[in-house]
Amino acid sequence: MTTTFKSKRYDLAVDTITEADIRELIDWLRAYPRLTMAHVTREFEKAWSEWLGVRYSVFCNSGSSANLLMYAALDSTGRSRNRGIVVPAVGWSTTVGPSLQLGWKPVMCEADPLRYSLDARALERLLREHRPDNVILVHVLGTPADMEPILALQEKYKFNLMEDCCAAHGARFRGRKVGTFGAMSSFSFFYGHHMSTIEGGMVSTNDEELYHHLLMLRSHGWCKDLPPEKYRELMAEHGVDSFHCPFTFILPGFNLRPLDLTARIGLSQLPRLDETVRRRAENHRRYQQRLEGAVEFARVGEADLISSISFGGVAASNAQRKVIVSALVKNEIDTRLFSAGNLGRHPFWTKRHGVFSAPVADRIHDGGFFLPNNQSLDAGDIDFVSDVVIKAVRG
Ligand SMILES: Cc1ncc(COP(=O)(O)O)c(C=O)c1O
Repeated sequence: MTTTFKSKRYDLAVDTITEADIRELIDWLRAYPRLTMAHVTREFEKAWSEWLGVRYSVFCNSGSSANLLMYAALDSTGRSRNRGIVVPAVGWSTTVGPSLQLGWKPVMCEADPLRYSLDARALERLLREHRPDNVILVHVLGTPADMEPILALQEKYKFNLMEDCCAAHGARFRGRKVGTFGAMSSFSFFYGHHMSTIEGGMVSTNDEELYHHLLMLRSHGWCKDLPPEKYRELMAEHGVDSFHCPFTFILPGFNLRPLDLTARIGLSQLPRLDETVRRRAENHRRYQQRLEGAVEFARVGEADLISSISFGGVAASNAQRKVIVSALVKNEIDTRLFSAGNLGRHPFWTKRHGVFSAPVADRIHDGGFFLPNNQSLDAGDIDFVSDVVIKAVRG
């Protein structure tokens, strides 16, 4: 039997850590292993890279830390150049936050009316006007962004692309996994995501230089976590003797390290990830079929796969959302704001840059809501939730 923290009839998020995972963890703990970051972390990173299909991954303590590391690695390698960046209006606070914390120059972009990620036309206007050298996008709630026009713009304007896939594990654009398009991509392993390491995040990349910088930035800016040859090369370059080597700081780093304990939990869940993605995708498709004509939701192409963390619906008005939310609450169905709505209407942004207003982002802010989607729900559950929404909309 699996213990969950389920409190309502249908919770938005359920635990992905099973009793079997806990038993496996206890067995591992009985051997008194090292708990801080060491070889199990490296094992998990390797397994994750294989799953995603990239060369390198760096495990850290949250998806937000993964985003911070991506920005910091572009800075420390000198690639952030003019430090201008396009950030999404629909996404998460910590997708945008590092641009403010690190003193970059962010400009906010309207959401795509179909997929809710960056709108390519709005993106091009910003690229033409501001010439930023960096762009970060979110695959919103597991819906793959429309990568074709975005990659064409990258070709034309030559920006560094970061992909925030924190809630999009296993989503695919034309068959290719999200997280393999940009210079770097981030994932979250928080509770309720496709898999969980309690807290945790990952940055993935095919770029060796970025990989080395991510390793140093994660741990104080020292280089002793680098592959041994690179470590020796750097120490020789800086003329450091062997006594000083382990505590020589190359970069101004952070401490965003994970634990081997959390890596162990990640390793036991990774083999189930594809099945979780399959269930979430199937549930999502059923919601789409059932809710067609009742509420707005993301739309993708035939060859794309939505691996949603929650089903994001958008009501026709704020008043209609109130009716839907009250029907959901009455039926013990958990709901909440669609992601963070329009990030350009939150104080962390408006205090510095004023209110960002755009039709799609505002529509999501005023009418967006979540419906539960997770691996514990089946077709009957989706039908029940959908019927509650349909009845509320049709009065
Ligand atoms: C798009 C996106 N980015 C970043 C994060 C932050 O991840 P974490 O909670 O692991 O810090 C989240 C969290 O849900 C998210 O949805």
